[in-house]
Amino acid sequence: MSSIPLHLLPENASVDAEGQLAIGGLRLTDLAAEFGTPLFVYDEDHLRARCREAVAAFGPGVAYASKAFLCTAMARLAHEEGMRIDVASGGELFVALAAGVPAADCVFHGNNKSVEELSTAIEAGVGRIVVDSFDELDRLDALLGSGGDSQKVMIRVTPGIEVHTFDEVQTGQEDSKFGFGWHSGAAHEAAARVRASAHLDLVGLHVHIGSQVFSAGNFAHAIEIVAPLARELALPEFCVGGGLGVAYVEGEEGATISQWGKAVRDVCAASGIDSVITAEPGRSIAAQAGVTLYTVGTVKHLDGIRTYVSVDGGMSDNPRPILYGSGYETFLPRDVGADRPQAVRVVGKHCESGDVLVRDGRVPADLAVGDILCTPVTGAYGHSMGSNYNKVLRPPIVFVRSGAARLVVRRETNEDLIRLDVG
Ligand code: LLP
Repeated sequence: MSSIPLHLLPENASVDAEGQLAIGGLRLTDLAAEFGTPLFVYDEDHLRARCREAVAAFGPGVAYASKAFLCTAMARLAHEEGMRIDVASGGELFVALAAGVPAADCVFHGNNKSVEELSTAIEAGVGRIVVDSFDELDRLDALLGSGGDSQKVMIRVTPGIEVHTFDEVQTGQEDSKFGFGWHSGAAHEAAARVRASAHLDLVGLHVHIGSQVFSAGNFAHAIEIVAPLARELALPEFCVGGGLGVAYVEGEEGATISQWGKAVRDVCAASGIDSVITAEPGRSIAAQAGVTLYTVGTVKHLDGIRTYVSVDGGMSDNPRPILYGSGYETFLPRDVGADRPQAVRVVGKHCESGDVLVRDGRVPADLAVGDILCTPVTGAYGHSMGSNYNKVLRPPIVFVRSGAARLVVRRETNEDLIRLDVG
């Protein structure tokens, strides 16, 4: 029944005298009128504050996991705030470099980096390559073997633990495509091999156990497992990955980046790891900074069954509900304090029944066609996992700050839909 919990909204959200929600001093309904819907709106100061919090918690080696949300404006912002950029493909590296991020500040991840991606990264001077497999080590040896160059690398270790999150984003278990397994001895073997290489400069170990993890115990467990090797190698760096869980719906509560940083650093210290501790948060930087605005197009009441509220976006701007069953809240920014007595299912405009944005949403009783509807906490893994399904045009992205809005990604056009067609 109650109104939207304000702690799910971006830091600089405020409710004005007429009950309208503003972010960075701008009403969401005005932004929808100016830029159209669907629309991603980001609170720029919130993004900057989270980056600064991460740098304060871990120091300047901390990287922003750009897979969560990447465009040139975001890469530039994270870099300006002192973060490195974690890229997981040649494409993410290209965007970071295009944004002006020095290659030396990029950390290159991936379980199947191609020869082309690796050679581009080496030529550009990427700061760190996080090696993930013996095949990748072969490729690096072949690429670096002929010249006198040396490349800084980290070794990704899979600690062999299961964590509390959804299956698709668990990465720490032994049965994983990622990293060198701990229990099989692969991690030790990889370390020996890298240390023996004349071209690879081993700067640290890396562990990433999964994403949307709320339990501090899960992070501690992974660190404690890998600690003996970290102590033995005594390398300059130790990276705890990303994965900090954030609240999406009422009742959820995540730790802050500062709390997470202190917790993992304490465990590292207690485990005798005296390397510089780094991390690569993605979701916890971007998720709560962003909201999505839609226009309500149809309302279908099915007696005794449910009410469907259809909006002008859907699984093409937020595939997380259909992929992971993820929950979201919904509300009307024109009356942010309104009770939400009406149970509805918010759905998109795509041609399949799975195209659900909010499975069990609650909205005010007077919701009507034409209303601007908002889903908060859509700043991470929405835009970045978006698609053109049904040739629905991808939404623009607006950064708001101190009463000003700037378009950082424009809306796709129909012409964009045939831009790649050559025959
Ligand atoms: N580091 C590595 C090596 C990763 O694989 C990831 C995420 C991160 C850092 C950042 O994790 P975060 O702090 O954002 O949790 N599409 C899924 C999430 C996939 C996460 C993949 N890796 C979702 O929408 O929930």
